[in-house]
Order: sequence, then C-alpha cells, then structure tokens
Amino acid sequence: MSSNLRFIASPGGKLTGEIRVAGDKSISHRSIMLGALAEGTTHVSGFLEGEDALATLNAFKAMGVQINGPKDGKVTIHGVGMNGLEAPDAPLDLGNSGTSMRLMSGLLAGQGMEVTLVGDESLSKRPMKRVTDPLAVMGAEINTTPKGTAPLVIRPVDGLRGIDYKMPVASAQVKSCLLLAGMYADGETWVTEPAPTRDHTERMLRGFGYEVMESGPRRGLRGGGKLTACDIDVPADISSAAFFLVGASIAEGSDLTLKHVGMNPTRDGVINILRLMGADIEVMNEQEVGGEPVADLRVRSAKLKGIRIPEEQVPLAIDEFPVLFVAAACAEGMTVLTGAEELRVKESDRIQVMADGLQTLGVVAKPTEDGIVIHGGPIGSGEVESHGDHRIAMAFAMASLRATGDITINDCANVNTSFPGFVDLASSVGLNVRSEDV
Ligand code: S3P
Repeated sequence: MSSNLRFIASPGGKLTGEIRVAGDKSISHRSIMLGALAEGTTHVSGFLEGEDALATLNAFKAMGVQINGPKDGKVTIHGVGMNGLEAPDAPLDLGNSGTSMRLMSGLLAGQGMEVTLVGDESLSKRPMKRVTDPLAVMGAEINTTPKGTAPLVIRPVDGLRGIDYKMPVASAQVKSCLLLAGMYADGETWVTEPAPTRDHTERMLRGFGYEVMESGPRRGLRGGGKLTACDIDVPADISSAAFFLVGASIAEGSDLTLKHVGMNPTRDGVINILRLMGADIEVMNEQEVGGEPVADLRVRSAKLKGIRIPEEQVPLAIDEFPVLFVAAACAEGMTVLTGAEELRVKESDRIQVMADGLQTLGVVAKPTEDGIVIHGGPIGSGEVESHGDHRIAMAFAMASLRATGDITINDCANVNTSFPGFVDLASSVGLNVRSEDV
C-alpha cells in the first residue's frame, strides 16, 4: 500500500456473463489459524489472496509455521500442533484486519509467550475491549491503549480457565476469539450469542476433528483437545458477490451468474434482504463442500422497492450494508435500517460514510444512531470518500450503474484487503470502472 488509488466509475454499464469472485475472507483466515495449530499438513484451495488473509498467513509464518503459497489460491500449511508456535521476533502487523486481531488475541492468549499485535490507522481505532475483557476473565493478560484499542500486548500466563460468557454484541469475532482461547483453557468454555452470527469457526473446528457443543444459542468446547489437518475448499465470498448481486439488480438489461458462492445460512442476509426488495436471484447447483454450503447465483435486473429491513437479518448481512444502501437508493420508496449500530465500528463508520457519499450524489440519506433512512431517487455524479474502507469503495463503484455522470471514489487501495482484482473482474462483466494511482 505504498501508493493510493482512486476509482472512476462511469454510467452506462450493465452486468452480464459468468464470474467467480474472490475467496471467502472469513474462511481463509480460519484455514490458516487452524491449519497452523493442527497435526499434519492442511491443503487449502480457493484461498483469498487479499491483504487481510495474507496478514494472517504472514503472522503465522512469523511464529515459525511453514506455509507454502498462496499460488493460484492454493496454500499448504505444515501444522505445528497446538503448542508448536514460536514467539515472533517483532510485533505482528495485522494491517486492516479486525478478524486477524480479534481471533488471534484469543488463539494466542494461552500460548505462554509474549506477542504484540499491531494494525493500520483504521484497525488501531477499533474496539478491542470486547475481546480483551472476557479473555481477562479467563485469566489472560492483554494490554490495550487506555482507549481499549491496539496495539495489544499479550503476556504469558500460567493457564486459562473456561468461561460461560453472554456476549453483549452479536459478533462472530468475539465468539470465535473465545472458542479459540477455550481450546487452551481448563474445563469448558461457552459463549451465548444475542443473535446468530457466522459459524465458520464452529464448522471448521469440527472439520479439524475438534468437538463443538451446541445448546440453543450457546456454543461451547472443552479445552485440551487437538486439531487434525484436513483439506479446505474455500468458496467464493458472498460478501464480494454482494456487489454484483446489487449491481446486476440495479442495472437494466443485466443477467449475471456468480459461481461457487458460499451460502452459509449465517451469511445469506444479503440475498434475503434483496429478495424482500424485489430482486430476481436464482439459486442453482446447491451443494455442500467441506462442511459449507455453496451455490451458483443467477441475478437479473429487477425493479426494487424500499423496505423496512428486518432486524434479525442484520447480523446475517453485516458486511453487505454499504452496497445494500446503494440498492436502497435505486429502489422505489423508502428503506429503513435499524438495529445496526455495529456498522459504526467497522473499517469505517459505515453509516456516516455511506450517508455522506450518498448525499454528495444527491440521494436523500439520513443517518440515525443505529441505522439509516434512504429515499430512493436519482443518483447524480461527484466525488466521494471511501475513508480507506474497501466495501464503501466497491459499493460506490456499483452506484455508477445508475448515476447520471462519473463517480470518483477516493482512497481505494484497501479494496485489495478483500477483493484483489475487483476492477478487472467488474470491468470484464460490464462495469465502466478504472483505477488511477494517486
Ligand atoms: C467476521 C465477523 C464480522 C464481520 C467481519 C468478519 C469474521 O465481524 O464484520 O468482516 O470473520 O468473524 P463481527 O463479528 O465483529 O460482526
């Protein structure tokens, strides 16, 4: 990220053809973490070669794990076993990746070594007490800044104790952090979610032979187990597919097929919400690959209508709201989102940043404390700020499909955190977008 990028997206496109978008970010992170701690060699295919997943990969290399690749999405991880990590020589730089930092704080809390986790400007502002507080109850010693942010300094402790923790926020990162710490704790560790969140950690733990217990909204495991290497086929990321689901829905004459998309029911809120808005999405070739459901999605343009987004869908679509706001701007009538205050502590404050950009483009968008109200109407042209947030940048690129003139989007280098090759892939199916070095 030595230079930055700006996108210039022009109207007039429609999306047609067949593509496979980038690999799932959540699953890619977890494949490295569990593969590293497993006994044996784990082979991963479809790995996301984006900066976030690579930050995790490089962090485990710095802790002595031999990892080959990625090459064409293939990664081989030579597991070191549950207690085989080595203390790194320097702080582990996790870049923009909240998932790396929150999950690794749990995974490393009981390793008996000192490790410092650092991140970029955005990650250094994000709340970490949500993981360090419950980890402290388990006996971990992790220092944050006085604001409760990174750097996180993890100190060696004698051991961890299991916890029975009721999570105040619906966060898969917090749940995963505590389950990973729980593998190193005495007794059982249980987490209760206020609402279902993505369950990739539980599914993958089971795939590696580690028992995960379930009781209503509670997930638990017993410390002291081990992981056995396995092969992982990472599906295309539904969060990356979401840009194209919205793009093809709003651009007249579109007919686009997205191949091998992860359809985990804890991630499919974007499809449910778009369908409620009137989108035409066909699910084809449903199958299960390595414990995760996948399917091909065919999406054709449709007349969207504004809706009140059901709150139970919010955690299931948590990363897709920037582009769903673009869908709302193209819909007839008003869309109301509530219960989504978590959006304010993502890579950027996604409620404010999207509201600012939409307003610049002439859309009526009113932020509220925990959501937004958007009135569908014409999208104009102009220059918007992504604030270094990958998903904001890609969302506004899709908005150009219905704009009256060019949209210039600043600060787009971080698109490489989750979707390297976005501009080329989107151009190949008809989006008029180009990137420029600045
Ligand atoms: C993620 C969980 C979500 C999501 C993030 C990835 C994960 O965060 O926003 O992009 O891989 O567990 P929260 O669990 O904090 O909502």
